[in-house]
Amino acid sequence: MRTSAKIRKAVIPVAGLGTRFLPITKTVPKEMLAIAGKPLIQYAVEEAAASGLETVILIVGRGKRLLTEYFRESPALEDLLIQRGREAEAEALRKLPQLAEIRTVWQDFPHGLAHAIGCARSQVGDEPFAVILPDALIDSTVPCTRQLIECYERHHPGCVVATRLVDPCDVERFGILDVVPVLDPCLSGRVFRAISLIERPRPEYAKSRYGVFGRYILEPEIFDCIDRIRPGFGGELQLSDALMRYSNQSPVLGFCFEGAHYDAGDKFGFLQASIEYALKDPAISDRLRRQLAAWDVSSVAIRAMNASIQ
Ligand code: UTP
Repeated sequence: MRTSAKIRKAVIPVAGLGTRFLPITKTVPKEMLAIAGKPLIQYAVEEAAASGLETVILIVGRGKRLLTEYFRESPALEDLLIQRGREAEAEALRKLPQLAEIRTVWQDFPHGLAHAIGCARSQVGDEPFAVILPDALIDSTVPCTRQLIECYERHHPGCVVATRLVDPCDVERFGILDVVPVLDPCLSGRVFRAISLIERPRPEYAKSRYGVFGRYILEPEIFDCIDRIRPGFGGELQLSDALMRYSNQSPVLGFCFEGAHYDAGDKFGFLQASIEYALKDPAISDRLRRQLAAWDVSSVAIRAMNASIQ
């Protein structure tokens, strides 16, 4: 067994095609789309930093260079902003490169999430690490990755995945776990051992409604498991399949995280997150609240229904 279980690195895969957001993702990475003025990638890197992680490994693909540029220093722009009296904006820019040490790794082709994570092997080395998917936006008091690290520290060795119950109609949109409870007096009722993990099952094949939510703590042994899997759901190398292989040697745990989750990789989830985050921004929340109240949602629905009848 490894002597140190300290987690210092986060892998953030951003090499996917973002097909649900085409055509904009033809030129703009999905992770640069902004929720209430801040891009998804910044939420993910801030979560890593707030969880105590020092290094972020971005897995980038074709057309994703904007993402690494975003975290570079910008002294000329900062000086210009200061000359124009915009100290707060200059300070916000200065903070970006200080969030974490950002490294980048290239994924030559979008073969799937497991393949993307496998590309980080040499940068991760022989230590456990976190994975954060930026399009799974989680708004919580304790960062979701920190919650998973606390579970890992109590239960390692083993991998930990963020989970919670999903609506029956949403089962087909998630990786679904079959679980048995694990006794933990401090995290009571929130830790499970995964018996199986199936990627986006048809409801009749789902063993439970515990979905997997885009945050993971992985042991480095996962890399050998990734090397041994074959393309699965959607013809891609699936992390779910690598985790099932890993579960033959050590436990895969599900941890029921606290916080609001938004699927910001989907148009509806993106809009929902935009409104919720904007409502928390003091600069615009009052205006937005008034606007939402002014829109009479029921009359809009009736107008749409009448139009479809005519
Ligand atoms: P998603 O399936 O949610 O993202 O992958 P996507 O493929 O970019 O978007 P859609 O489904 O086509 O609309 C989850 C995460 O894994 C990354 C994505 O960038 C996203 O952050 N990913 C996926 C990779 O880095 N490489 C891959 O080969 C696949």
